[in-house]
Amino acid sequence: MSDKLFIFDTTLRDGEQVPGCQLNTIEKIEVAKSLEALGVDVIEAGFPVSSPGDFNSVVEISKAVTWPVICALTRAVEKDIEAAAEALKYAKQSRIHTGIGTSPYHILYKFNSTQEEILERAVACVKYAKKYVEDVEFYCEDAGRTDNVYLARVVEAVIKAGATVVNIPDTTGYCLPSEYGEKIKFLMENVNGVHQAVLSTHCHNDLGMATANTISGVMNGARQVEVTVNGIGERAGNTSLEEVAMILKSHKELNIDTNINTRKIYPVSRMVSGLMNMPVQPNKAIVGRNAFAHSSGIHQDGVLKNRESYEIIDPKDVGIDDNAIVLTARSGRAALKHRLAVLGVEVSQDKLDKVYENFLKLADKKKEIKDDDVLMLVGKDRDTQRIRLDYLQVTSGVGVKSVASVCLDIAGEKFEAASAGNGPVDAAIKAVKQIIRRQMTIQEFLIQAIDRGSDDVGKVHMQVMYNGVVYYGFAANTDIIAASVEAFIDAINKFVK
Ligand code: KIV
Ligand code: ZN
Repeated sequence: MSDKLFIFDTTLRDGEQVPGCQLNTIEKIEVAKSLEALGVDVIEAGFPVSSPGDFNSVVEISKAVTWPVICALTRAVEKDIEAAAEALKYAKQSRIHTGIGTSPYHILYKFNSTQEEILERAVACVKYAKKYVEDVEFYCEDAGRTDNVYLARVVEAVIKAGATVVNIPDTTGYCLPSEYGEKIKFLMENVNGVHQAVLSTHCHNDLGMATANTISGVMNGARQVEVTVNGIGERAGNTSLEEVAMILKSHKELNIDTNINTRKIYPVSRMVSGLMNMPVQPNKAIVGRNAFAHSSGIHQDGVLKNRESYEIIDPKDVGIDDNAIVLTARSGRAALKHRLAVLGVEVSQDKLDKVYENFLKLADKKKEIKDDDVLMLVGKDRDTQRIRLDYLQVTSGVGVKSVASVCLDIAGEKFEAASAGNGPVDAAIKAVKQIIRRQMTIQEFLIQAIDRGSDDVGKVHMQVMYNGVVYYGFAANTDIIAASVEAFIDAINKFVK
């Protein structure tokens, strides 16, 4: 019989910590419900003490989700644990995830403490969390750089104190796969009572080894993996859910099963990417746009003769429907609704009507509407913004000065300005600044094509600093100058009320 591996999804906690990826509570519920349908065992819904928004999201996700365990993160601090317990009170099954740093870096520099004191705090926080919930997970932060003998003492002590799961994070993504696997093996062989708890992996991807380390951990005895959709997460991200699920499905000899319904992987990946405004790199394993695209003649010929010559995964197994209906200006609402459903997005009739209207406008400019276009359209709800772009006119080219005229609609009143710049975007942004009159600077500015072709939609991600705080803006348009100005206005709407 095969062993069961628990999938612990932290897209809404570790994934959501990425600047610019923040979701509101409604969006988080949408993601949580999709994760439930995907078959994850545990959803880490947030860090309740960190903000009222995070607290509220844990409450609402607990109410909305039925099957997965809902988990909340804390530090080894009583007030954190109390906040987590309070936020989890509506969960059908709840878990508190508490812990502390165990590596010399954390003990000496972060806590100015000793191994013995940290061990005591670890035991105390597990006992405190046990007063509120039965299921307590303990994390040994920076376990990747923690000496194995000391780590084994901590793991043994927290299991004795009642921890049901012990998480061994490679917080900095430093370990080699062999080293991480050895660590799990060492704990499995040297911790008394290790079978009374589940060991969990939590690997970061700083050196591109998160998935390899996770699998190595599983091969050596870990029975829970902490992952995110599309591998999103701080810095280079976390282990990606879809990679682990498909490795275990492809390598039956490992004899390990998960509950993941792999056919839902692609829709969930698109949905998370769309909601978090986080593009998936085209060559990303399993869910990248090119993951199943054979471009060389030799490969195309081989695949046409027999798919398995060059493909180890059938795209249908991850929910990529290669017979997908192509949407064009002649497609009706039903086709659009069907495509949205395939992408994991349910819409009301009202919303569908609005999206369809924008769909027709886009289809007028672009021959084929792709999945990313549809997701962009469904997230586009600018009509409710206080400041809107009324019109934009630019003159630019080689040998002429770039100038722009802009009109903004601010709560129904029109304001116009014109400016020159070193290019059309610079001119237009300067004109907007003349109207808004605040000290704001663009920190990051990324223009990306959704698909390919000169008629493509350009997506713009922008970070704007105002009063020491960074605000995130996003827009998409077939005109990239308009998209840049709209992304700037999107960010401004977040601080000019
Ligand atoms: O990477 C890490 O160590 C973490 C812990 C808080 C679990 O995210
Ligand atoms: Zn982490």
